[in-house]
Amino acid sequence: MYKTHTCGELRAEHVGESVTLAGWVHRRRDHGGVTFIDLRDRFGLVQIVADKATHPQAHQALEAARNEWVLQVTGRVRRRPTGAENPDLPTGQIEVEVSAVQVLNQAKPTPFTINKDDGVDEHIRLKYRYLDLRRETMQHNIQLRHRVVKFIRDYLDEHGFLEIETPILFKSTPEGARDYLVPSRVHPGEFYALPQSPQQLKQLLMVAGMERYFQIARCFRDEDLRGDRQPEFTQLDLEMSFVDRREDVMGLIEGLMIGLTRAVAPQKRILQEPFPRLSYQEALDRFGTDHPDLRFGLELKDISDLAEGCGFRVFEQAVAQGGQVRGINAKGLGVLSRKEVDALTDFVRQYEAKGLAFFYVEEGGFRSPITKFFAQETLEAIAQRLEAEPGDLLLFVADANPDVVYDALGRLRVHLGDRLGLRDPNVLAFAWIIDFPWAFWNEEESRWDPSQHPFTMPVPEDIPLIDTDPGKMRGAQYDLVLNNYEVAGGSIRVHDRALQEKLFHLIGLDMATARERFGHLLEAFEYGAPPHGGIASGIDRLVMILADAPNIREVIAFPKNQAARDVMAGAPSPVDEAQLRELHIKVDLPPKKA
Ligand code: AMO
Ligand code: AMP
Repeated sequence: MYKTHTCGELRAEHVGESVTLAGWVHRRRDHGGVTFIDLRDRFGLVQIVADKATHPQAHQALEAARNEWVLQVTGRVRRRPTGAENPDLPTGQIEVEVSAVQVLNQAKPTPFTINKDDGVDEHIRLKYRYLDLRRETMQHNIQLRHRVVKFIRDYLDEHGFLEIETPILFKSTPEGARDYLVPSRVHPGEFYALPQSPQQLKQLLMVAGMERYFQIARCFRDEDLRGDRQPEFTQLDLEMSFVDRREDVMGLIEGLMIGLTRAVAPQKRILQEPFPRLSYQEALDRFGTDHPDLRFGLELKDISDLAEGCGFRVFEQAVAQGGQVRGINAKGLGVLSRKEVDALTDFVRQYEAKGLAFFYVEEGGFRSPITKFFAQETLEAIAQRLEAEPGDLLLFVADANPDVVYDALGRLRVHLGDRLGLRDPNVLAFAWIIDFPWAFWNEEESRWDPSQHPFTMPVPEDIPLIDTDPGKMRGAQYDLVLNNYEVAGGSIRVHDRALQEKLFHLIGLDMATARERFGHLLEAFEYGAPPHGGIASGIDRLVMILADAPNIREVIAFPKNQAARDVMAGAPSPVDEAQLRELHIKVDLPPKKA
């Protein structure tokens, strides 16, 4: 046995006991004749000490040891002298007086310091991820992730769910991203697709009579990466039969999220229970996004009606072209300098806004280079709509495309929320977004695209709209949002083949193509499919928020970087000619750009 105790568990009550510990040298201090080491394992830190006078051999070994060497030590637990206790450390009342030391392994100097969590370049951290994972924050994040997944498994087991694995080598599943393809050697010229989610498989499991399925499922999507997106990520995926109301699924997940927070992050306060519900349109109108941060106000206000004929050309044109003008009252930010306001303009320009109109609100009225274009009544109406008070800063985006207004202001709102310190990490603002349109009109391709996937049931009373006004048809769909992230999404499914065919038809999928892609699912629906529905939650995002991490890479043991590379192993990478030959694959690259 390498250790009788872990480095984290020794306390005052162990004083006098003889113990054997094993771990890494976290930090070492020599005090002329006495050497101290903080020995670290996954469970914590403990101070070990060797005195040259009493244990010369042990002392010599500790003196020679360097950071990150692996040691096994035996000694006696003793109380630290008064004044030498460390109240910040659970083991801080005691130390271990070492009599024997065995060096289990030496370590080269590490490319960055393990015992500090300070600003190391992420590329280096990812290249040496196995060292980065030794650091305190990463240890904490990985342990938290374990506890989250463990809680989920226990909760769903108690609620009658079965954990069932589904294949990774499968066929294209429509979640809207590009597929990762895997060539088949046995069937030259044919490819598997890695699942973007187990969507079809879980619905087939409902036809198979499993009734309640879940999986901690790896999903693969070849899409542009962001802080909250990885090419492979993990979902809590679930599906349940004999549900036809979205409340059935939402209630289950709500209970899960509340229980989970209490269990793994009790320091966090859930802002509102039961979780509030917003329609998709309300979320856009008030917050500019379908995944709003509800921890603070700074809501968007529509002034399009006031902009009509207001005298300021930029505003007038936007509404004349069918667009909108909306604004935010940045409460108390009248203190910002012109330079800082220009920086906000640059910020919204990143999101395709053409500019940012602003008014400083002062005792005597508005101050801005554009005030002169407006009639006094218009300014007063704007002030009233935005509840302006002296000291405020009013910010507006006008655009012919309402999506640009929403996106630019939605992001500006979050940016201002940060700036005003309104995004308290210890508050969790969960909310449900419902009543999404079933489909959006795709202008470029001139067709309807499903807003989720084509297996989503329309809201029952809206089904007749499929023939008359499909843009108005709502989906029986729900997203769970948390602090500006979408953390789950799902829907009640279509279990009726005729309706499914109509929906395929709406999105321009002819039956031959639909049969080729999802024939197995369509056929399955003809053998007694139960009403069913489900949801999937992004575990990486959830853990990221619970861990207060800035992006999901911080809660994934071996993530890809922003360019979808594993920089540690060097993937993706070219493969041998022979491997390609076996697969009958020829690589035909475009000429390298100079
Ligand atoms: P959806 O596509 O909304 O639904 O995905 C569900 C949740 O997965 C997370 N997520 C991601 N996390 C990290 N990186 C990504 N690239 C990424 N993409 C999505 C989000 C999201 O809310 N099959 C349906 C679910 C269903 O209908 O039951 C689905 O996959 O948190
Ligand atoms: P300009 O007339 O382009 O000099 O712009 C005058 C002011 O209006 C500047 O503060 C611009 O940032 C702002 N502005 C320009 N275009 C827009 C727009 N589309 N929405 C909001 N403000 C704008």
